[in-house]
Amino acid sequence: MNASDRTRLNQMPEWAALAKHREQLGETHLRDLFASDPGRGTGYTLQVGDLHLDYSKQLVTDETLSLLRELAAATDVFGLRDAMFRGDKINTTEDRAVLHTALRAPRDAVIEVDGENVVPGVHAVLDKMSAFSEKVRSGEWTGHTGKRIRNIVNIGIGGSDLGPAMAYEVLRSYTQRDLTVRFVSNVDGADLHEAVRDLDPAETLFIIASKTFTTIETITNATSARDWLLTGLRAGQEAVAKHFVALSTNAEKVSEFGIDTANMFEFWDWVGGRYSYDSAIGLSLMIAIGPDRFREMLDGFRLVDEHFRTAPAEANAPLLLGLLGVWYGAFFDAQSHAVLPYSHYLSKFTAYLQQLDMESNGKSVDREGNPVDWQTGPVVWGTPGTNGQHAYYQLIHQGTKVIPADFIGFAKPVDDLLPGLVAQHDLLMANFFAQTQALAFGKTPDEVRAEGVPEELVAHKTFQGNHPTTTILASELTPSVLGQLIALYEHKVFVQGAIWNIDSFDQWGVELGKVLAKRVEPALTEGAEVPGLDASSKALVAKYRELRGR
Ligand code: F6P
Repeated sequence: MNASDRTRLNQMPEWAALAKHREQLGETHLRDLFASDPGRGTGYTLQVGDLHLDYSKQLVTDETLSLLRELAAATDVFGLRDAMFRGDKINTTEDRAVLHTALRAPRDAVIEVDGENVVPGVHAVLDKMSAFSEKVRSGEWTGHTGKRIRNIVNIGIGGSDLGPAMAYEVLRSYTQRDLTVRFVSNVDGADLHEAVRDLDPAETLFIIASKTFTTIETITNATSARDWLLTGLRAGQEAVAKHFVALSTNAEKVSEFGIDTANMFEFWDWVGGRYSYDSAIGLSLMIAIGPDRFREMLDGFRLVDEHFRTAPAEANAPLLLGLLGVWYGAFFDAQSHAVLPYSHYLSKFTAYLQQLDMESNGKSVDREGNPVDWQTGPVVWGTPGTNGQHAYYQLIHQGTKVIPADFIGFAKPVDDLLPGLVAQHDLLMANFFAQTQALAFGKTPDEVRAEGVPEELVAHKTFQGNHPTTTILASELTPSVLGQLIALYEHKVFVQGAIWNIDSFDQWGVELGKVLAKRVEPALTEGAEVPGLDASSKALVAKYRELRGR
């Protein structure tokens, strides 16, 4: 279905049916839903690969789910999905295909963009990455002075940082522990400073990750890193070849920077930055965990791709998660979505999802450029449990906002945990299960009174409950499970964009700030007049210069 043939979302009969259903649902409590259906706890679940998804604590009934699926059919979510997998240019504002799924396609797959099969290229780059990773891991790749590389510093930002940085943390227990791997993204010099201050340049490899190779933060940091290296080595430009590699789509800019294109790992404009860490952008991760583990991760991605592509609507996990988000945004006025992993290794997981979700679906015009008058992407936030419990969970439990949340946990701790710490895992997971229980069922005033609480404190100690959550439980945190989780969220975001009729694959919203920063910089450094600078910004720039002693 063409975007232009679509009835506006909130004028579709399926939308009206959902609105009516929401009214009928009224204040129905999860306590009622569980009381009326003893099978709910096991019935409202899905298994996808290693992921067990429990959505029984969502504010939905069979009717809600069937109405939501009717909306998905009316908005042709699966039609757009097929167009994406086929390589159609569904990123219309940039006239690009959206083919991150090709990054994990098997060697013999055929996926064409402009008549060319892109799969052989994907595998050629993976093979080149594997050979390079093995050389670094084994010590065969040496630096300019002949010393073994022991430190990897990835310089990139946004999608060229968040993915590998997140995945490195997640899979830390699979990493070669004698390699130091760090990630630099911020143009604040403090970031690079802290990353390199204790490193020996002779043992350090910089991976410059930038799809465009024009991003100011990355090029500035890469230039400073090159200065640091050459000064430290007391060497000339010839040392760059052994200490710098590039991950990019832009060979011309890479070579302009002074990196030999033989040391460039390529990807393509049909890979969006925030969908790219399973491409060459994952090189730092591959060096850390090794090519075999990296490929296991790709297998995990592929498993969920195949599930999304083939599972019927009633059993399709990304479809379900996407629809739940649409439901809460539109009919409960939920503004945010919390992702709360109960694994320390997932400490950067939600930050990664922030870019994936918010850069994709933070849009307010539809694919035709008309303003939307329905909610689009939520604010995504969260940090690992149990820390959050002692910080902001209070607001989720007893505040005034509807905050749907995903809880992600694992039955087993990672293999190499110190034996003395293994027992702590059950305590971690006891908290995991306790929280979703408390959020769903709360504590009634009568239950509070029955505990002998004085009447004046009953309201304070009452938990209204009815806070919707999804529980995602896997046996253990493996590379494949990470791939499965990321693909699950990628496709969830896709589903929502399809329903909201927005282009989830462009990011024009980041452009204006970039242009203005370029214009303002000379005002800070030289006191130059910036044409069109507003009065507030002008005063702030003057204050900055005064405080900076200029
Ligand atoms: O923030 C905008 C953005 O274009 C992201 O989409 C992208 O991931 C990031 O900048 C980095 O871009 P590049 O990889 O081209 O340096």
